[in-house]
Amino acid sequence: MPHSSRKKVVKPTYQKRVQLDDADGWTHMTTSRRSQHHGTDKPHGTVQHRDKFVPAEVPVGFRLGFLEKEYARYNDIWTGSECWKRLRDIFLSPSGKPFEGDEHDDQQKQTKQGEGNSQDAELIANNLAELSLNSEAERPVQPSDRITSCVCLGLGSLVDPVSRKTSLYQLVALQSILEILRTRYAITKVYAQDPVFNHMDIEFLKNSCNITVLPDPEAFAKIDSSTFLYAPHCERTFLLPGLKGKKPALSISNTMETLVNGPISTSLADEEIDIAKAFLEGQSATRFPDFEPQPGTFNDMSVYLQTEAD
Ligand SMILES: C[S@@+](CC[C@H](N)C(=O)[O-])C[C@H]1O[C@@H](n2cnc3c(N)ncnc32)[C@H](O)[C@@H]1O
Repeated sequence: MPHSSRKKVVKPTYQKRVQLDDADGWTHMTTSRRSQHHGTDKPHGTVQHRDKFVPAEVPVGFRLGFLEKEYARYNDIWTGSECWKRLRDIFLSPSGKPFEGDEHDDQQKQTKQGEGNSQDAELIANNLAELSLNSEAERPVQPSDRITSCVCLGLGSLVDPVSRKTSLYQLVALQSILEILRTRYAITKVYAQDPVFNHMDIEFLKNSCNITVLPDPEAFAKIDSSTFLYAPHCERTFLLPGLKGKKPALSISNTMETLVNGPISTSLADEEIDIAKAFLEGQSATRFPDFEPQPGTFNDMSVYLQTEAD
């Protein structure tokens, strides 16, 4: 057979995932050219235009059954992780002192300087004591309506070969956090929005996770003072406008303080800084613990509990 008539085996080429510190100081695990140039050529102090996102392609041969198995596997790794144990402490702390801003600063310094996780864990355990979910005696007979819904933004596609590992870990984490929160709060609706979701993401989220996918921008309208906002590694360009005038009861997102105080704040539009400042008012904050099995999954993220009444 002549050489030229042989069938070529074409191997799928996936881009390597990289950890990227963007111009705003927010770190992402990413591969997309869109994300990699995020913010770098932005003129000083202007609001960036919104990028175009399209549903991720379903790889040839990828089946829902595979996704279900992967979900179970990732869930096992997540629930066996030190990160989840420490995160549980955040929500299950039986007692503790109320959060004070100085402590958060100290804690951030400790985290950065790597001065030991035990002090860190103690601070985390104390900071969100208000949630005190583990005491049967304290648990109200009727679930509290302080948090009644969850809005998940920017999870990423669960089937995209490049992004799905991180997105799956973030999804199993969300489900376990919801399980804990539901021991106290009557969370009845969970919404997710990401323009990269394809039909398989939407079906899996609906049938296996009881999560309703909304088209962009409908989820923003669902955020209010009784929302648990879960926005892992969301770009500020769409997150901040979506948060304007909103004070979710509980949020897990990229750390917002750096947008207001850090050197990167000089590259933000005044309006963006104002939204971040307003978001931070009345927040009790603590860093999301490190996740050893895949360190980039929750990096630069924090848990925020709104302590001011509506
Ligand atoms: C940096 S990626 C984060 C993906 C994943 N959560 C992670 O940590 O790797 C930001 C995500 O936000 C999504 N996104 C962009 N615009 C959005 C919008 N208007 N609403 C919700 N998600 C959006 C993108 O499609 C992308 O999946």
